[in-house]
Amino acid sequence: MALFSAKSLTFLVLLISIPVGIIISLERAQPATHVYHYHSTGFFRECAKWDSDNNRFIVSYFEGGVGQIPVVPAGGEAVLEEVTVVREPELAGNASLGMVIDRSRNRILVVNADVLGNRYGALAAYDLSTWNRLFLTPLTRTGDEKSFADDVAVDAEGNAYVTDVKGSKIWKVGVDGELLSIIRNPLFTPKEWYKTFFGLNGIVYHPDGFLIVIHTFSGNLFKIDLAKGEEVKIIKVEGGPLYFGDGLELLSPNKLVVAGSPSGRLVESADGWDTASVVATFSGPKHRLATAATVKDGKVYLNHMLGMGYPKKKHAIVEAVF
Ligand SMILES: *[C@@H]1O[C@H](CO)[C@@H](O)[C@H](O)[C@H]1NC(C)=O
Repeated sequence: MALFSAKSLTFLVLLISIPVGIIISLERAQPATHVYHYHSTGFFRECAKWDSDNNRFIVSYFEGGVGQIPVVPAGGEAVLEEVTVVREPELAGNASLGMVIDRSRNRILVVNADVLGNRYGALAAYDLSTWNRLFLTPLTRTGDEKSFADDVAVDAEGNAYVTDVKGSKIWKVGVDGELLSIIRNPLFTPKEWYKTFFGLNGIVYHPDGFLIVIHTFSGNLFKIDLAKGEEVKIIKVEGGPLYFGDGLELLSPNKLVVAGSPSGRLVESADGWDTASVVATFSGPKHRLATAATVKDGKVYLNHMLGMGYPKKKHAIVEAVF
């Protein structure tokens, strides 16, 4: 007996080939903005940050680890190459996700998490010159509620703030890697149950002493004032809510980029982030899924989660022009 009848096989081929056809045509389309392509060993890269001092992008591996992508200044359109710089055997099975460069301490902070089981999360710090590990701090203990450590921001003193997209809380980790406290707030939990599945996600530190955090499924943007005892307020966003917002990056003190779906949104505030408005939207390669934003020479670049191609996977870091 044949495993598939001709009919079901035809159906299956149609079912598969339609999205593949769309993807191929999207891939062939001439991109409207500048793109850095790079070859990679993995299909999934959650975050990319531009390291201006060392002329490279740093990317986090969904299969665990960190890579660098040196940018050749006169390289033209050549495909860049990813080089692995961090691989932690003791974190095997965990994904590396959000990252932030702590420039004044010449280090990078990297979030690691057990994405499927939601049982483990950790924050690691590495020296940007030697890639020596400075600390590895578990955020979870056995028996804790389920969690999904996702993104990280760093304040002027070097404290790190790690979002939990599952439990909608924020772990605060001190400059030397000591777990200090957990920031919780009823505002972090939307009333509608179906909006609770994907919670606090992208986070940035604003130079005026507060954090800006996004809640992916409710689209809420929060301001957390560190000087006022971590007071939490919802930022009123005209043109919001910012549904499906993922990674954040400040383009300037009053301009925030929200990566996600749509690929990029530019949000501006004229009153220190009590209120804000969506002023522009950028639509990039949707099928690759924008997950993080970074700024290179005053321009916004969006990391895309999905690599394409075989045997070499090719990833795209796409300039967002607003
Ligand atoms: C993640 O790393 C921790 C710490 O080493 C380990 O105990 C855990 O099993 C890992 N998670 C998975 C899903 O492998």
